[in-house]
Amino acid sequence: MTEEAKESAVKLYESCVFDQLLGETLRPGGLKLTARLAEVAGISSNYVVLDIACGKGTTAFFLAREYGCHVIGIDLSDKMISTCRSRAKEEAVTGRVSFLLGDGENLPFRDSSFDVVISECSFSLLPNKEIAARDIGRVLKSGGKLVMTDIILKGEVSKELRSQISFACCLAGARRAEEYINLFERVGFQSPYMEDYSHELRKLTFQLAITFGSVDNFLGRLSGGPCQRKGAGDSAPSILSYQEFLRLGRPGYALVAMTKI
Ligand SMILES: C[S@@+](CC[C@H](N)C(=O)[O-])C[C@H]1O[C@@H](n2cnc3c(N)ncnc32)[C@H](O)[C@@H]1O
Repeated sequence: MTEEAKESAVKLYESCVFDQLLGETLRPGGLKLTARLAEVAGISSNYVVLDIACGKGTTAFFLAREYGCHVIGIDLSDKMISTCRSRAKEEAVTGRVSFLLGDGENLPFRDSSFDVVISECSFSLLPNKEIAARDIGRVLKSGGKLVMTDIILKGEVSKELRSQISFACCLAGARRAEEYINLFERVGFQSPYMEDYSHELRKLTFQLAITFGSVDNFLGRLSGGPCQRKGAGDSAPSILSYQEFLRLGRPGYALVAMTKI
């Protein structure tokens, strides 16, 4: 299930489902929210920053250009990493950005390598969150910050309902903000800080309805499309399950920051 979930997450974001809607940043908030994330993280030119699940590299280029820091992006998608590497040739940030194919749950870096770790709309996609959180703690320097923006749930969903929708979209793996905070506290982080950006998710939902005709049309694309489970057949997640998940889970969007002790 775990490897299958990761594979379908990669497939979904490699597909064209979101391209039309999101463009270069594959999530709510765009670079305006990234600028706020950089401010909260206190990024400066002498920092080395890790971007987990960097997508097309837009954030890495933005941070290197605007703040002069060094950014390493990793992503599990070959296609994303080759896009990042070809873009790097055109961006005026040579030497300050690099990209690696890698899994957010198994970071290919030495202990205490980074001043800041960021993850935008991607932590929710990692099936083994405890393993991922510990690994983030391992690669961060003491006093370093993790700043993530992600889907949060404001309601409760049963395990059963969670399992009925595809893990590939950020929704299925999303948690309540306090669950993220408790998780990072358990693995050696402190000083939680949060800002609510649920209006950015509402804005995106509105754009989604316009682009696909309705939110249900979009959900239909998800349930029958690229993130359908392998061999799911008749048990492919139904629009009804997504609708129920949205009703009970009441998803929002938030920035969460924590400091490694
Ligand atoms: C919602 S997109 C966000 C991309 C980027 N952070 C952005 O803001 O545009 C999710 C990204 O997570 C990547 N991904 C999914 N599972 C992953 C994993 N286990 N490890 C690393 N990257 C992963 C996908 O390939 C995709 O690029």
